[in-house]
Amino acid sequence: MLQPKLLINGQLITTNDFVPVINPTTNAIIAQVPQINEPDAINEVFYQAHQAFLTYSKTSLQYRIDLLQAFADEISKHQTELADLLVLEIAKSPKDSLQEVLRTVEYMHETIAVYQEMVNNPLTFSPKDLKTPNKNAVFHRVPYGVVLAISPFNYPLNLLMTKLAPALITGNTVVFKPATQGSLIGLKIAELAHKVNYPKGVINSLMTNARQNGILLASNPYVRVMNFTGSAKVGHLLAKHTQNVHLILELGGKDPAFVLDDADLDLASREIIKGAFSYSGQRCTAIKRVLVSQKNHDQLVIKMLEQLKQITVGLPHENPVVGPLISAGSLQYNLDLIDDAIEHQATILTPVKYEIANNLLHPVLIDHVNAMMRVAHEEPFGPILPILVYKDYDDAIEMINASEFGLQASIFTQDEVLAQTLAMRIEAGTININKASSRGPDILPFLGVKNSGFGVQGVKDALTSMTNLKGIVFNK
Ligand code: G3H
Repeated sequence: MLQPKLLINGQLITTNDFVPVINPTTNAIIAQVPQINEPDAINEVFYQAHQAFLTYSKTSLQYRIDLLQAFADEISKHQTELADLLVLEIAKSPKDSLQEVLRTVEYMHETIAVYQEMVNNPLTFSPKDLKTPNKNAVFHRVPYGVVLAISPFNYPLNLLMTKLAPALITGNTVVFKPATQGSLIGLKIAELAHKVNYPKGVINSLMTNARQNGILLASNPYVRVMNFTGSAKVGHLLAKHTQNVHLILELGGKDPAFVLDDADLDLASREIIKGAFSYSGQRCTAIKRVLVSQKNHDQLVIKMLEQLKQITVGLPHENPVVGPLISAGSLQYNLDLIDDAIEHQATILTPVKYEIANNLLHPVLIDHVNAMMRVAHEEPFGPILPILVYKDYDDAIEMINASEFGLQASIFTQDEVLAQTLAMRIEAGTININKASSRGPDILPFLGVKNSGFGVQGVKDALTSMTNLKGIVFNK
């Protein structure tokens, strides 16, 4: 049984209050993770993080670059161990787990390069810009203070580091709360930070019962930035309890694949199946509904079923595309969505095969879905994909925009001009033409609209989101 420690104010500690971590592949308990649940002890963590900020924010940029570089090197050195933890606690395949570690290290390197560039090129205003002789100005980027980072289970390393790296290099300090499934890697990362000598209080890994204490974290007066990835319900609840806090929220998604009449259906079916089912559909940017006209419907369905044969299903060590879902609860939720669709006369195009012992659900394509069905608008975070038929493009846009979510969308067409026109009408952060939706390449801004989020991430934008401007105006 693994017994990881928390990094609190420079000390690796344990407590006498634990939460179990369950291996999704076996449903067996694999670790007991210590928690801090007493309000005074939680508040003390934030107070110490604030105290650390007072000195860490005044350190040189080179010092913080060296630390982040050493941190990235340490993660690189431990890449196999870290990938193994991902396999164990979130049932990601070894191949994808290693990919997540490598992507994270690259993200850290990009953060260093981009921030150096930003610091070297502050916002400046000459007398000519200001139309005032003898006046010029420079606006630097400065850290806010304590960042509360709350990261999800599905990319527990990458989506933790996309919060930590920009916060740390810019001089903020961090208290992070990882999802329980995902806490083993989170706590390991904090240990590595400790190993490379981040000063005490700069990084704190705080496990706590989030249902009980989430609001206490969000409302702590020392928190200046909250960067949360998770459900819209929890994100909004926490955001409501913050005070003068800069918010970066990445919430749910219901990304549509909008297949136009002139689409290359081979390409569309390939991208849709890959986009919907990789990591069992447990990606915020997974394709979560397909919209096609009657004209292309039958052909597209045939091609998607053909593509589905490439989607391997199995336990993580077999490196499948679809593996165990994160929990028994998630499997049940997906099965409920399928039952509801069947009750409302949807057509299930693939056998509903599942194994309760390891939370495995084989991919399910659901045809003739309409707005009455839960699967038309809820986010399964699992390997089920609804197909909806639209009458015309206006009807399709209306169906797409009826969703509470607006993370990303895909449009498949050979008409670039039309693609751009339709893209501008879709309420989503990013529209991908002839490609499945995805967050990467990480240098791109990453954002959602409506209930999909608030604030912008991506290498450069996360650095901007985690810093404020500070202007100095010179008058001669
Ligand atoms: O779950 C959300 C992740 O940010 C998805 O990242 O689209 O690059 O796989 P990705």
